[in-house]
Formats: sequence, C-alpha cells, structure tokens
Amino acid sequence: MNLMVINGPNLGLLGEREPEIYGTTTLSEIRQMVLDAVSERAVVKWFQFESEGSLIRIIHRYRKWYDGVVINPGALSHTSLALHDAIRAVGKPFIEVHLSNIHAREEIRRHSLTAMACRAVICGLGPSGYVWAALALIHMTSDLQPAGIAPGKGHEAGKKYSDC
Ligand code: DQA
Repeated sequence: MNLMVINGPNLGLLGEREPEIYGTTTLSEIRQMVLDAVSERAVVKWFQFESEGSLIRIIHRYRKWYDGVVINPGALSHTSLALHDAIRAVGKPFIEVHLSNIHAREEIRRHSLTAMACRAVICGLGPSGYVWAALALIHMTSDLQPAGIAPGKGHEAGKKYSDC
C-alpha cells in the first residue's frame, strides 16, 4: 500500500520542544520507527509543514497515490476547518495521531476539528502512536480485512465491532 504521513506546525522541533510533554524523540527518529515497522508492506511518503496551506496542498497533490494517511496536524487540529474539509474531500482513510493525550491537557486542546473527519484517533502513546496508526491503515486497507470494518463499509454503516 501507499501510505502518507503528514505533520503540522512545530513538530519539526520534536526532541527539543517541551520534552516533558512530547518526549525527546525527534521527528526523524519517529519516521525511522515507522519505516522499520511497515517498509515491507507499505511505501511511505513523509512530510512536515508549518502552514495550513502546505498541508492542504499535499493532501490534494497525492490524493490519487495514497491509500491512507497518518496525520498529526499539531495545533491546527484544534482550529482548522479547512484541513477538516480537505481530509473529507479526498475520501481516503486518515488516522489522526497526537503524541500527547490531548484530552488530559488544556480545555482548548480537548477538541479536534480534524479528528471529526478522520477514521480514528490515537493520542497519548507518544511516538509509537504513529506506528500503531500506520499498522492500522495497512490492516484496514488489506484484502484480509473482514468486510465489517473495511474502509467505506462497516464504519459508515455504523456496524458494531462485534459484527466483524
Ligand atoms: C500535538 C498536540 C497539539 O495540541 C499541539 O499543538 C501539538 C502537538 C501532539 O502531538 O500531542 O503541536 O499534536
């Protein structure tokens, strides 16, 4: 499968940015963790941008290429309806990742506009959240996936997990 991982503003400073919240792993180390975990089953394109427009452009540009996207929109999660719309517009499965548990933080971070457009959200697992999200997308888009939770089927139909 073709997998895109996109990162929003300030995530290029991981490793030195507020390590008590985000840890000391750099974004390029996280990239390597993802590649180590999935490279036998996925081709990965990896991006980080500071601006909303650049994130939206990359979602558009590769929409015919990727089968799924792992996205950490950073602070834009909490503010960007335009990014929400871009995710919905392309009709591919996105999984939102946050290193920190946004629900255990300030009130303003507890709501994500972008998460509303995503298939799933993983937060609070640190760097391994990216790996779990990538593996979940591979699982979701694989032929072995039971019909009940295949992309575009069980999820939208509101099937219960036990149906799978
Ligand atoms: C973050 C959480 C956001 O609230 C914050 O603005 C970030 C990082 C996370 O990965 O925990 O930039 O997305």
